Amino acid sequence: MQQMETSKPAARKDDAAVKLLKVAIDGPAGAGKSTVAQLVAKDLDLLYIDTGAMYRAATWLARKQGISTEDGEAIAKAASEATIRLEPGDESTNGRTRVYVNDEEITHAIRSHEISDLVSKVSTFSALRKLMVARQKEMIQRGGVVLDGRDIGTVVMPDADIKIYLTASVDVRAQRRLKDLQALGESPDLEDLAKAIAERDHRDSNRADGPLKQADDAIAIITDNMTIEQVVHAIVRLCVEQ
Ligand code: DC
Repeated sequence: MQQMETSKPAARKDDAAVKLLKVAIDGPAGAGKSTVAQLVAKDLDLLYIDTGAMYRAATWLARKQGISTEDGEAIAKAASEATIRLEPGDESTNGRTRVYVNDEEITHAIRSHEISDLVSKVSTFSALRKLMVARQKEMIQRGGVVLDGRDIGTVVMPDADIKIYLTASVDVRAQRRLKDLQALGESPDLEDLAKAIAERDHRDSNRADGPLKQADDAIAIITDNMTIEQVVHAIVRLCVEQ
């Protein structure tokens, strides 16, 4: 015998309202933000904006132009004179956003170890953050966007309709990173990875400007025991329900 459905399904926003949503997804490195944000955007037909890729592009530009990664003013100046373009990714980029600086494609280059190490420092410079936040604010004006980063719910899009703070324990994030790197043929030490993740959390959370921080009105999702599909489903529900 079938069970009777007792709870009424929640009312759904109309499609036009969903198309205009502003969705902010913040959290530490390795929590799965970019994968989740991409899938939520795809599901709801919204534009995904990878703000971390913009800081990575500025870091790549500094290296390319021989600018010291200690010189925040010079990096901000170079970034202000450059065009950083983001385009939707596809299978050949593993779904990751395509990134161009002055029409040179740097989609893969910005994921190198070197850039990953340097960007956490470069993204602390206030002059660069000011420029990136201003550009991000322009990109979100019309709504219909999902952004992931560290300061989206607090600084870039404080008026977001839905704010998610996605996190996972350091151990689980280190395990996930290990699997990703093993898939690339690397064999790093798990403890070293955990240490690097904890250090990066500390740096991201303690910088003066736009630190990693859960917005007061954000919903925290701890993903330790959740699959990507479960996380995406939970966020999509929050987005479409009234
Ligand atoms: O999400 P990611 O790993 O690609 O981000 C790269 C770096 O940029 C990371 O050190 C944190 C920083 N970042 C930031 O400071 N603010 C954002 N909105 C996004 C990323």
